[in-house]
Amino acid sequence: MKRIGILTSGGDCQGLNAAIRGVAKSLYEYYGEKNLNIYGIRDGYRGLIYGDYHLMKRDNFSGILTVGGTILGTSRQPFKLIKNNDIGNIDRIECMINNYKKMKLDCLVIMGGNGTHKTANLLSQEGLNIVTLPKTIDNDLWGTDITFGFQSAVNVATNVLDCIHTTASSHSRVFIIELMGHKAGWLTLHAGLAGGADIILIPEIPYDVKSIIDTMNERSLKYKKFSIIVIAEGAMSKEYFKLSKKEQKEKRKQSHFPSVSYELANEISNLSKQEIKVTVPGHVQRGGSPCPFDRVLSTRFGAAAADLIINEKYGYMVAWVNNSIKSVLLNEVAGKLKLVPKDSIDVKTARNVGVSFGD
Ligand code: F6P
Repeated sequence: MKRIGILTSGGDCQGLNAAIRGVAKSLYEYYGEKNLNIYGIRDGYRGLIYGDYHLMKRDNFSGILTVGGTILGTSRQPFKLIKNNDIGNIDRIECMINNYKKMKLDCLVIMGGNGTHKTANLLSQEGLNIVTLPKTIDNDLWGTDITFGFQSAVNVATNVLDCIHTTASSHSRVFIIELMGHKAGWLTLHAGLAGGADIILIPEIPYDVKSIIDTMNERSLKYKKFSIIVIAEGAMSKEYFKLSKKEQKEKRKQSHFPSVSYELANEISNLSKQEIKVTVPGHVQRGGSPCPFDRVLSTRFGAAAADLIINEKYGYMVAWVNNSIKSVLLNEVAGKLKLVPKDSIDVKTARNVGVSFGD
């Protein structure tokens, strides 16, 4: 009897259920229903810590390919908390190992982003058999060219830009659209390119407000009276970028603006005397059905994870590199971020077609 556990951890995204289905169906195909027990672990690492899991049936994995969110539930369990025994007086790592043993697992499949992979690597180092799948709308996971969830979020965000475009154009207004991505600007860059943004602001390229206003003014004099600025939630001005992490935190605490886009709108309208509209789609970007690209990618990743299990190749994350499936060692992935290179093809392309990065 093969016993496999599955959990989804961190922020949800489109394609999680498709990936769960991909793993389960491939395993059922190989081992047969009678020789396989799959345990669904509720709410990510929380379920593994507190023993919240249940035996699933083949039927549970049917009809979920197109469904958004995760049928297993998820939660954020920061790595710092996982390692801190003082909070709540429990050894979370020991609890997770004990529950893994209680289920008599041959392998635990973990789907998650950056934080999730730090804990997955730690569990692997503790001797558990772990296989992971890369998920996040941020696409900032090191070791894979693309994560599932990203393309669906780009689709949602692009749709927002398309909708704003028509009203911005009718009213000759300037709009700021704030997209998700604290550390990496992949989502903002791709949606910005796909939605024809005039100014793209990402965390990797600090901006200068005056340069943004110059671009807006130049546009309104020479081309169009409206402008679309798309900004990642973690984008920062050049002055802010120069501050230490501690000073940045302090400044954020003192700010009375709900987020970076409102702060930027205020600065631009103070300096340019123009009214600026702000749109923040927020968690809409993570919601709804996965796009066909993500359904395929999640299924590929799911089947590849099952292959690793069948071949007893543990301690790896499945990845998409140079248009093919690869597996990357967890200790190479954990703790590393994949940021947008300033000279990436898409930054260059955007600049070629006249997009400003506010730098
Ligand atoms: O999971 C990634 C992400 O959507 C980021 O883009 C965003 O900054 C964050 O999660 C939001 O987290 P939460 O859902 O916990 O508010």
